This record gives sequence, structure tokens and C-alpha cells, in this order.
Amino acid sequence: MTVQTQEYFKTSVQDRDPLIAQALENESRRQQDQIELIASENIVSRAVLDALGHEMANKTLEGYPGNRFHGGGEFVDVVEQAAIDRAKELFHCEYANVQPHSGTQANLAVFFLLLKPGEKVLSLDLAAGGHLSHGMKANLSGRWFESHNYNVNPQNEVIDYEEMERVAEKVQPKLLIAGGSAYPRELDFERMSRIAKKVGAWFLVDMAHIAGLVAGGVHPSPFPHADIVTCTTTKTLRGPRGGLILTNNQDWFKKLQAAVFPGVQGSLHTNVLAAKAICLGEALRDDFKVYAAQVKTNAKVLAETLADRGIRIVSGGTDTHLVLLDLSSRGLIGKQAEVVLARANITSNKNPIPNDSPRPPEWVGMRLGVSAATTRGLKEEEFRTLGNVIADLIIAEAAGNADDVIEKAKTKVAQITKAFPIYTN
Ligand SMILES: Cc1ncc(COP(=O)(O)O)c(C=O)c1O
Repeated sequence: MTVQTQEYFKTSVQDRDPLIAQALENESRRQQDQIELIASENIVSRAVLDALGHEMANKTLEGYPGNRFHGGGEFVDVVEQAAIDRAKELFHCEYANVQPHSGTQANLAVFFLLLKPGEKVLSLDLAAGGHLSHGMKANLSGRWFESHNYNVNPQNEVIDYEEMERVAEKVQPKLLIAGGSAYPRELDFERMSRIAKKVGAWFLVDMAHIAGLVAGGVHPSPFPHADIVTCTTTKTLRGPRGGLILTNNQDWFKKLQAAVFPGVQGSLHTNVLAAKAICLGEALRDDFKVYAAQVKTNAKVLAETLADRGIRIVSGGTDTHLVLLDLSSRGLIGKQAEVVLARANITSNKNPIPNDSPRPPEWVGMRLGVSAATTRGLKEEEFRTLGNVIADLIIAEAAGNADDVIEKAKTKVAQITKAFPIYTN
């Protein structure tokens, strides 16, 4: 081996690329020092991180286990088969495709499998918590398919299943979609499947946000009601960035494989497959159930603490990992709250609430999720403290004197982050 080759294989990122090394180091510190309340985030295990950084990433493969387009795939076959078997066991279904590179890709593959361009899709309105990949105009799903929405009841902000049924009967969609990215309440899969059957639609459940809650047994399962299920392996499931597609329909299995590859994707993200297999294995363990139950408890404590301090909670509470705040109840918009929380090292995001402005800068909502901080070990006591810190910040921001409370809030956040460190040896 030449000196040059040896150097290529041995040089660390610190020596190879100081700019990127510094950004990586800063990101580690940021994650250590901030409390992460973005509902789509979590903190993966060391084992998942190890797999993501493994040289399995070098391997190019297309196709499925035992039937590849390239040689040298025997160990990736082990990994992909394990991910498939574990996904089936975890979610109690017959077929699993573990290749989608993301949740959006998983949904796109389902559209490719079930619909022809121009056919109708019925999904949750974006402001009520829906997702872009469910037929929103800015996404291919809304550009190439005819998209319609159902909504929440304006009084209680819970999905209005009667209205959904009326819209479904009128629109006659080919695909009815459940799930979203900012809907805090339990979904009634049985009822939706009846509506889908009544109008002759396929029923897709996108459980991206709640997959970990389903896996942990604290949210009802979409099976046996859904025809097909998609999710991300990120978020509550606590795995790498990627997607899954699950079904019990034998007739679709082969077609689904073709819809993913070569339908909407090319080669595998081989290292991510290994990380997916690990996270699915972790979710089968008993301690995952403890985590999932704690997520639900923590979200309730956070919602109650904020409500007690006079901040309106959309739908009056939560059944999941997320809490949606209506900041107009305090005369603020989402961005103002996001900024003031960030100044105290709490990471969050502005979000629309039902019937909010279509313009993101005007959104009055804020979405908080507890999964990442729960993974870190925070329980009821810390979430009560955090809820009060957040309320102090929002109330002070609204009164124009946030500067007075920032230092105190930062100190409390630092006490928590120090007590619950991540990735320490
Ligand atoms: C319900 C839902 N579906 C799909 C996705 C898309 O996932 P990805 O970001 O992996 O494309 C998200 C992401 O937030 C989501 O909330």
C-alpha cells in the first residue's frame, strides 16, 4: 500500500477536513446542551450510530435479499432480512418493505403502486396536522394526483369523522389517508377503514409520527384495519432516517417491491438498512414499552403544565408524543415563541394550527414533542419544570420583557441537560 493510500484510509475527519470536523463537534455540543422538543426528532442509540458510520455504506446493491443485481451482497442480505422479519414481528403484519429512503419516498411508492396520475386522494388538511406528501400542491403527490382534504371539528379540534364520511362520499377518492405530522390525538383506524370501504377507496395509514407509540403498545395499531401502512424509522420509533411500508395484502407484495425499486428508488442505503434492523430490534425489547409509555405520560404533563399557565392547547390535550400550542392565546406568533425558546436552549418549531394562515411567517402555532427528551431520561418532574420554563418565556415575550427571564430559564435547562447527558462513555 502506498503512503498516500494508507493516509486515505487512516486520516480522521479532524485532520482531513477541519471545517466539517468543527461543525460536527459543534453539533454534538448543541445536542448535549439543548433540550430537543421538535416532535419529529429523537436520539438514536450508540448501536444505531455505529451502523450508520459502518463501511457497509460502501456497498452498492439493487433488488431484494437473495435476488440482487450485484455481487457481494450476502451480508447486506442478512441485514435486510433481519429488518424485514423484525418489522413484521413488531407491527404484526405479513409483508414489510424496509428500503424506502424516507417517509416521503415510502408514500410516493404507495401512490405509484395504487394510483394512476389524476386519481383522487383524501387526506388530513395541512393546517390540521396533515403532511406534504399526502397530496399537498407543493409536493408531487398533489401535483400529479387530485387531492382533497378532510378536517378537524372547529369546536373541539379533533378529526370530524362524520364530515370525513360526507367528503369521502362526495369525492369518491381512490385512496384515503390517515396520519399527519402535527395531529396530537389518537386516530380511529377502524372508523376510517369503514369509510374507505364504503366509498371503495384503499386505506393508507401513514404512522410516521406515532410508529414508536404503536410499537410500544400505547397507540392502537393500524392493523388489521389499514390496507397499507407507511412510516419513518425516525421520530418516535427512534431509528435512522428512512421509511418502511407494511401490508397484509399478498397480491400487492411483489408489486410493492417493484414500486419501491425500480419504481421510485435505485440502490439501497445499505448502512441505513443495518441501522433500521437495529432500531426495530430495540423496539421489540421490553424497555421500549417503558420508553413509549413514558413518552405519553411526559406529553400529558407538558400539556397540563402549559394549560395551567394559560397557554391554549389545541384540542385541549394530547394522546401522543406531541403538544400543539395556540400562541394567539398569548398574542404571539409561532416564530416569536420558537426564537425565545431557542435563546434558552430549547429547540422547537412554529407550526400551523387548524384554520391557521397559509403563510408560514403568520402561523400562530408551536409544535412540541417529547420523544427525544424522554429518550434522554426526562420524566414527569423534569417536564413539569420544562413546562413552567416554557410558559415563563412565552408570557415574558408577550409582555416584552423576555430578557429578564432568559438567564433563569437557561440555568434550569442547563441543570437538566447536565443531569441527563447523551453519548457519554
Ligand atoms: C406523517 C408524515 N409522513 C411522512 C413524513 C416524511 O418523512 P421524511 O421526512 O422521512 O420524508 C413525515 C415527516 O415529518 C410525516 O410527519
